[in-house]
Amino acid sequence: MRVAVIGAGVIGLSTAQSIYEQYHSIISPLTIEVYADCFTPLTTSDGAAGFWQPYLYDKGNVQETKWNKETFDYLLSCLSSPESIQMGIFLQSGYNLCTEPAPDPSFKDIVLGFRQLTERELQLFPGYNYGWFNTALMVEGKAYLPWLMDWLQKRGVKFYHRKIASFKELAETGADVTINCTGMRSGELQPDPELKPGRGQIVKVDAPWLKHWILTHNFSTGVYNSPYIIPGSRLVTVGGIFQLGNWSQQNNSTDHKKIWEGACELEPSLKHARIVEDWSGLRPVRSKVRLERETIQSGATTIEVIHNYGHGGFGLTIHRGCAQEAARLFGQIVEQKGKGPKARL
Ligand SMILES: Cc1cc2nc3c(=O)[nH]c(=O)nc-3n(C[C@H](O)[C@H](O)[C@H](O)COP(=O)(O)OP(=O)(O)OC[C@H]3O[C@@H](n4cnc5c(N)ncnc54)[C@H](O)[C@@H]3O)c2cc1C
Ligand SMILES: *[C@@H]1O[C@H](CO)[C@@H](O)[C@H](O)[C@H]1NC(C)=O
Ligand SMILES: *[C@@H]1O[C@H](CO)[C@@H](O)[C@H](O)[C@H]1NC(C)=O
Ligand SMILES: *[C@@H]1O[C@H](CO)[C@@H](O)[C@H](O)[C@H]1NC(C)=O
Ligand SMILES: *[C@@H]1O[C@H](CO)[C@@H](O)[C@H](O)[C@H]1NC(C)=O
Ligand SMILES: *[C@@H]1O[C@H](CO)[C@@H](O)[C@H](O)[C@H]1NC(C)=O
Repeated sequence: MRVAVIGAGVIGLSTAQSIYEQYHSIISPLTIEVYADCFTPLTTSDGAAGFWQPYLYDKGNVQETKWNKETFDYLLSCLSSPESIQMGIFLQSGYNLCTEPAPDPSFKDIVLGFRQLTERELQLFPGYNYGWFNTALMVEGKAYLPWLMDWLQKRGVKFYHRKIASFKELAETGADVTINCTGMRSGELQPDPELKPGRGQIVKVDAPWLKHWILTHNFSTGVYNSPYIIPGSRLVTVGGIFQLGNWSQQNNSTDHKKIWEGACELEPSLKHARIVEDWSGLRPVRSKVRLERETIQSGATTIEVIHNYGHGGFGLTIHRGCAQEAARLFGQIVEQKGKGPKARL
């Protein structure tokens, strides 16, 4: 059984890991290959702050809430391992701030110690009159991706630095199953009008005195289009920009100014912070994550594809739940192809 994963962001690497974990002892031989034209530290997953938090509301998409929870619980269970530092995971608490009362978010029972803000806490943030406090997790791509690659490499997974032009190209080289984890550029291989870039720009600063994340929500400007401050292991990430439909990965000075002014108003001590760098990236925005099988007929060849893309502004937050689900879909294909011992799948 030969599996080709396209994409080496958090989605591709974690999907390769879940497939290995679930099947390496029951399918033999099982060859897993990862193809990508960008590897860590150059993927979108590396640039992201790495903060575990979904959008406030799942709008009835309870499956994504379940995958988010699976990811949170998995990362929480990894915290007790000495490897948690190499993995780039750690607990961190903070504030979600709103300008008007809002229903509790869908993640309230996933995170730790979720509660409404008190009057005294709200007094710390002029202009905001409602919000929540909780403990969440950080999973920083710049550590987590190298850790995942190392984990996979040690188990014989091979990496190929290559741009894939079509699904057919991989099938012709003999892959039984192709996993599509191409993030925002998924549309290049097969147009998907539902997939749109949600351009983001962030400013990384040196401000080690900040210990809590602060996210603001402005229901008229939309998700992540209002100030946020997220301390990381070394630098603090400051945002937020969310421009739907904009493909530019250039830093923009107007956006930089907007981010900086908004953040300094929220947290005046930032004025003393040293600005380290800007970064711009594209969130793969979709009405919902595309996680499903597709059998593509190309001439005489039948290509089995599992799509796993469209994770918007929450790819690190949801990755493990999606990886586990993609691996289960892989198991279905194996069973149908009669390549694995049915009883044990
Ligand atoms: C400013 C910003 C901040 C963010 N902050 C957070 C956060 O704090 N928490 C969070 O959970 N999420 C955050 N996100 C969202 C998160 O970054 C994405 O959801 C996530 O990175 C998507 O992962 P991915 O693996 O699908 O894509 P990517 O990381 O973009 O990886 C895609 C991979 O596919 C490869 N690829 C694509 N096309 C081809 C091809 N044709 N041939 C070969 N290889 C190909 C690329 O080379 C790459 O390896 C943020 C995003 C932005 C822009
Ligand atoms: C991955 O999905 C995208 C979006 O549908 C599509 O454009 C692309 O062709 C797919 N890639 C593969 C290898 O199936
Ligand atoms: C929310 O966004 C609107 C529209 O851009 C703006 O007028 C308003 O001042 C914002 N609210 C806060 C608290 O920033
Ligand atoms: C920044 O973005 C604005 C629109 O949002 C645009 O008018 C301006 O030209 C951009 N600047 C640069 C340097 O790209
Ligand atoms: C997209 O972003 C770039 C870089 O900031 C900017 O120059 C451009 O004006 C934006 N385009 C749109 C359509 O917003
Ligand atoms: C954005 O700015 C950073 C430095 O702050 C730089 O390293 C990066 O290359 C810039 N991105 C682009 C696309 O110019």
